[in-house]
Amino acid sequence: MASSSSASFAYDDGGGAFKPARPRKNRKTKTGCSRIPPEVALERTRQELKSGDWLRECSDLLLEPSQLLWANSPEVLCLGLGSPSSSRDARAQLVFLLEICDRISLDPSKVSVYDPVFSEEDEQLLESVSIRRLTENRAPYPLPNPTIVFMPHCDLHLYENLIHENWTTDRMSRLLLIANRLSEYVDSIPSQKLAADFPCISRLAPLLQSRPLPHCASHTTAFTNLAIQYVRPQDLPPEPGQVENKTTDDISSIATASSSSHSLAFWSLPGTSSRAEIMPVASA
Ligand SMILES: C[S@@+](CC[C@H](N)C(=O)[O-])C[C@H]1O[C@@H](n2cnc3c(N)ncnc32)[C@H](O)[C@@H]1O
Repeated sequence: MASSSSASFAYDDGGGAFKPARPRKNRKTKTGCSRIPPEVALERTRQELKSGDWLRECSDLLLEPSQLLWANSPEVLCLGLGSPSSSRDARAQLVFLLEICDRISLDPSKVSVYDPVFSEEDEQLLESVSIRRLTENRAPYPLPNPTIVFMPHCDLHLYENLIHENWTTDRMSRLLLIANRLSEYVDSIPSQKLAADFPCISRLAPLLQSRPLPHCASHTTAFTNLAIQYVRPQDLPPEPGQVENKTTDDISSIATASSSSHSLAFWSLPGTSSRAEIMPVASA
């Protein structure tokens, strides 16, 4: 189901359309000059982004959900970054990831990235900033621990797959997404199609707390429509088994748990008939 294509993409440096990758050797810019080394380009991007208040505003936005969702340091997974050595947008997104981790004191050893487009140059660049690159597509990515998932401008199927794989109260309430605003898809895709093709997103999106990233003047396209999104545990319907096991007092303290049939309808996904079948999803 996921868009796990291993097709090779390249980017224009304005963050525009994808086009098939050309061999990297001796690649020149449009003006015929050699490209600046990716490490130098990354450092320039870092200086650009650090020059104003934008990064501080972003890390401030993350503080409250971080405190709400976990006591210990979460893991960080970045999917769909693109090629930071050849895309200006991917480079800015990489700087954002590094700086945010630094500012909210996240352990760099807990950060993993994966994108099938990574080139050798990308691999070297990621190594130079000590980020762990996953060497294979591990979709659909089970997330047993609290996790920040950074998915800038990914295919909707990739979001759905990740959420589907982790479709439990525990995991949903410890997931913080920095990604395209899922509610926009809910507004723009006909509801029947959304419910059929993206059942998790169609159910979860209305419950999400969403904090849009502020406008980034120097890298507009890299961060446009991205938001910090998470669901507060009390906004999730209890899973069917949880309702049966709770006392009346427990149940009345769960704000949105209006009925066990509502819970069942929320947590049961098309093609699954029991709780045990909700959990696994086929690999992409
Ligand atoms: C629309 S691009 C976004 C690239 C970049 N973040 C940007 O904003 O320009 C989507 C990216 O998702 C990547 N992708 C596709 N399937 C993936 C998968 N299974 N896991 C991780 N990344 C994937 C693609 O290779 C591509 O780089």
